[in-house]
Amino acid sequence: MSKPLVAIIMGSASDWEVMQQAARQLQDFGVAYDARVISAHRSPDLLFDYIKEMAAQGVQCFIAGAGGAAHLAGVIAGKTSMPVLGVPIPSKYLKGMDSLLSIVQMPKGIPVATFAIGEAGAANAGLFAVAMLAMTDAAMAARLAAFRKQQAEAVAATTLPPLK
Ligand code: RP5
Repeated sequence: MSKPLVAIIMGSASDWEVMQQAARQLQDFGVAYDARVISAHRSPDLLFDYIKEMAAQGVQCFIAGAGGAAHLAGVIAGKTSMPVLGVPIPSKYLKGMDSLLSIVQMPKGIPVATFAIGEAGAANAGLFAVAMLAMTDAAMAARLAAFRKQQAEAVAATTLPPLK
């Protein structure tokens, strides 16, 4: 198995429903990734060990999904200077607004690239990781260009149903 280029971390197994959208994009583009449940709050020591391990294995960025008091992405960003892409997970009572604000409002000096709440955000985090890798990988860049072309063609070919 090839070494992971992207590490996906989520705070709980309950986040996987959303975070698998990031994994799906990476898989579709042939990017090797590692995906783990590690909580910044419930298992902070494991998180620090894993960040070190992934850095040693050569990952290029981290995708972090968490909900509620979502500190995961920010804590990862505090431990590595690699890019951290944060995905706010929808939450039961505040619908992910808590997750979004927890991830996006980072203090100056420790950036987290924050994506939309939920599935679209997770998928876009995956695509953003692909775009970063494509900067130095011509084959990946070609695959990304083909994907964007196909997407544009699908929009152009869309027709609306007749008036009701
Ligand atoms: C966060 O708390 C997790 O990222 C998850 O979104 C949320 C709820 O976790 P569980 O109680 O479902 O494990 O840390």
